[in-house]
Amino acid sequence: MKALIPAAGMGTRFLPATKAQPKEMLLVVDRPAIQYVVEEGLASSADEVVIINSREKRAIEDHFTPAPELEAALRAKGKDAFADAVAHAGNLNVSYVYQDEPLGLGHAIRCAAEKTGDEAFYVLLGDVLVPDNAMLPRMKEISDEHAGASVIAVVPVPDDQVSRFGVIAGSEVAAGVWKVDSLVEKPALEDAPSNLAVFGRYLLSPRVMELLADVEPGVGGEIQLTDALDAVLQEEEMYALVIDPADGFDTGTVESWLETNNILFKRAHG
Ligand code: G1P
Repeated sequence: MKALIPAAGMGTRFLPATKAQPKEMLLVVDRPAIQYVVEEGLASSADEVVIINSREKRAIEDHFTPAPELEAALRAKGKDAFADAVAHAGNLNVSYVYQDEPLGLGHAIRCAAEKTGDEAFYVLLGDVLVPDNAMLPRMKEISDEHAGASVIAVVPVPDDQVSRFGVIAGSEVAAGVWKVDSLVEKPALEDAPSNLAVFGRYLLSPRVMELLADVEPGVGGEIQLTDALDAVLQEEEMYALVIDPADGFDTGTVESWLETNNILFKRAHG
């Protein structure tokens, strides 16, 4: 089973910081943001993390490549903790596929079709961090309880945020677990079927990958993952795990990135 991390976006909201540096490489406390997401993927039942990258963003691949000379130089100076951190980043099991055109999240995921084959797969969006790594295992449990159904994480959001997200319709079938009836991407508040927003962690059936090949451009002219999820509901069940907003840390805007740094720094350093 693979964990897919789309990372081919332009990082527009962080310009000029992201002019020469990928957004995913921005520092969160002591590591680039994407390293948390890779570590979360590897802590799940995934055997490999696949980053869906753009060919321009070499820095991401450099980060996950071993650097034996740097490591040796650090060890020679007695800086073993830094050498260990460099070795750790370089040894994470990451591979890459490329999205050559920015056609949307659904298109990015489809670029990894050869990697996932006929297996279920995780999708982890890098704008949110889940440092305790507990969400994917819980989603896997729910999927296993329901014959391998797709499971997505959702989070309650205030009314004024609803139009920024994918939103589900459905009903609660167990404490904190909903059965999904439909999904809509970035609805106007009056059209939103609930205030449960798609959060950025997905465990998806292989059928979703197949359906993505036929999804037409939707909101924003982009091929939307949410539209493939809505389509698969004609054929398969899907469940949603309602998470606590405190389980995830947003890094998608400058403001939320700064706040996340503050919270996680205090956690790490008291
Ligand atoms: C994407 C998804 C959306 C989801 C959101 C979570 O939107 O399309 O359904 O709610 O991520 O962050 P984006 O933030 O890429 O516009």
